[in-house]
Amino acid sequence: MLEIGSADWPPAPIRTERLVLRQAEARDRAVFLELLGSRRVHAYLGGARPRAELERELPDVPGRSPGSFVVELGGAMIGLVQLKRVSGHHSPAAAGKADLGYLFLPRAWGSGYAAEACAAALGWFGGVHPGEPVVLTTQSANARSMRLAARLGFEEVERFQAWGAEQWLGLRPPATP
Ligand SMILES: CC(C)(COP(=O)(O)OP(=O)(O)OC[C@H]1O[C@@H](n2cnc3c(N)ncnc32)[C@H](O)[C@@H]1OP(=O)(O)O)[C@@H](O)C(=O)NCCC(=O)NCCS
Repeated sequence: MLEIGSADWPPAPIRTERLVLRQAEARDRAVFLELLGSRRVHAYLGGARPRAELERELPDVPGRSPGSFVVELGGAMIGLVQLKRVSGHHSPAAAGKADLGYLFLPRAWGSGYAAEACAAALGWFGGVHPGEPVVLTTQSANARSMRLAARLGFEEVERFQAWGAEQWLGLRPPATP
């Protein structure tokens, strides 16, 4: 089971109609602090970490790992899309599969940017790991995230209780050639 994108990470920046997806750089640190410290962003993710703790512990270049894309609009970071392989998942159906995650600044919600960025990241994933499905876990109460998952083609596998809330596990079948 290959690490995600490990053979050819980072790819050249991916350009969509409005966005650029690229590897994280040192200049993104301030937006990482904003994103990771935002209570709104973490309302369905168990709460944000305290700002002082983030300032102390965040590396100089946060978010640099294969499958982790900074999303840029007009030259500034607005969010993060990550594809990670999860070995110890709550649901056996998700174990070992690539898992999609997304976090966007609230000021960037409601414009279709997350959908545009996730579709591009999934397209990249399909190219480097053809034939592999992708899973996604989100709180079922997270209405925006649930709508995005459906828009991206994820289908419900199951719901389960974890982290004090009902979680929704979706799976996106690989594209057929
Ligand atoms: C989940 C999250 C990424 C969704 O963001 P979002 O902006 O609602 O998602 P989308 O990119 O799909 O945008 C869809 C909205 O943009 C609107 N929109 C406006 N212009 C658009 C355009 N040109 N193209 C597409 N949609 C457009 C759509 O109508 C839709 O609005 P609606 O949901 O009110 O119907 C965001 O809420 C977030 O970062 N939340 C915090 C992190 C989180 O909870 N992550 C989940 C765990 S993985």
